[in-house]
Amino acid sequence: MKFFADTADIPAIRELAEAGLVDGVTTNPSLIAKSGADFLEVTREICGLVDGPVSAEVVALDHATMLREAEVLRKIADNVCIKVPLTIDGLKTCRALTGEGTMVNVTLCFSANQALLAAKAGATFVSPFVGRHDDNGFDGMSLISDIRLIYDNYAFDTEILVASVRHATHVLEAARIGADVATMPPAVIKTLANHVLTDKGLEGFATDWGTTGQTILRD
Ligand code: G3P
Repeated sequence: MKFFADTADIPAIRELAEAGLVDGVTTNPSLIAKSGADFLEVTREICGLVDGPVSAEVVALDHATMLREAEVLRKIADNVCIKVPLTIDGLKTCRALTGEGTMVNVTLCFSANQALLAAKAGATFVSPFVGRHDDNGFDGMSLISDIRLIYDNYAFDTEILVASVRHATHVLEAARIGADVATMPPAVIKTLANHVLTDKGLEGFATDWGTTGQTILRD
């Protein structure tokens, strides 16, 4: 499963990219606002930090203006992936852009039927939001299971990009289901390394090594 960083925070992306822990980046208007950066400039900088897809979202609601915005965004870099909302206008834009070879991430997906439409529109990625599902008393991971089943039934190429990931269990469950990508805040990526028994094991090794009186660095 690919890991995308769900952020526009340049230092955080740089740190994870240098560690080889991110395969791409997703942003959205809220994350851009949070960054305080210029949208086009920060997207260009992110595209230089990772080789994989960098999702940049249009803000228009109508098809014609989405296309005009997408034209600006896709000129930024070859790895820009245009993010469009799961609306009829977004799906029209998706079909037009993928038909020209541009990657498209269809976002704000909250049902399997919506995901079915995204695949039929030729989306490169579909972004079902699991955390917001859970926040509202639904079961976000059951949505991912449904989409995986439907996509496999018809051999759709669209990749399931699990979004709105809140914690490590979302990542684990997404991998168990067979999602293609999980996009998550850098902090969630880092928590995946945490385990109390790892900490205890390291402590024990350090204690036992200390009794040897030895060092590895001897020059
Ligand atoms: O990429 C979509 C993601 O940023 C949404 O996450 O936490 O706002 O539901 P959240």
